[in-house]
Amino acid sequence: MSKRISDKMEKILNTQMTREAYQAQVYLSYASWAEVNGFPGIATFLYGHMQEEREHMFKILKYINDRGGESKIEAIKAAPKNPKNLGDCFEQILQHEIDNSKEIDKIVNLAHEEKDWSTFNFGQWFVEEQIEEETLINDIIDKYHLAAGEGKGGNSNLYDMDRDLASASQEGDLPREENL
Ligand code: FEO
Repeated sequence: MSKRISDKMEKILNTQMTREAYQAQVYLSYASWAEVNGFPGIATFLYGHMQEEREHMFKILKYINDRGGESKIEAIKAAPKNPKNLGDCFEQILQHEIDNSKEIDKIVNLAHEEKDWSTFNFGQWFVEEQIEEETLINDIIDKYHLAAGEGKGGNSNLYDMDRDLASASQEGDLPREENL
């Protein structure tokens, strides 16, 4: 198969593939944290999102290989330390997503520079996805502030929020226990 992406593009896509695997680690670790800290619904949401990030990783792997490059499976950095509380958890996630969006922009910029319209087109899917993800997390942060009541007596609404997030819409399928 002839190689249809530049070496530079192959490298940056490989880096992004590993980065998406890292995003999955972030969601996985925060999901586990939420689960052991009394928020099973939020944990369900985060486990589900972990799966989406794995799908992003795989999408990039396939693209590199389909364009005649070679995907390289490399070490994933350790997940970040546990969040301080639920608010911190969502703020950290938002920051990870914003950082990830910036990395996607670098790929699209390079594709534009190289007039690599296939990768440019491929990158647009991720640009759209990042907009959706940032919006989703921002909405959750707004809900969290409402639910937490910001000092107006108790956090009982967090119970409702936790229940709601268990069924919040997202694209990835939750891994079934038998597949784990
Ligand atoms: Fe694949 Fe949430 O970035």
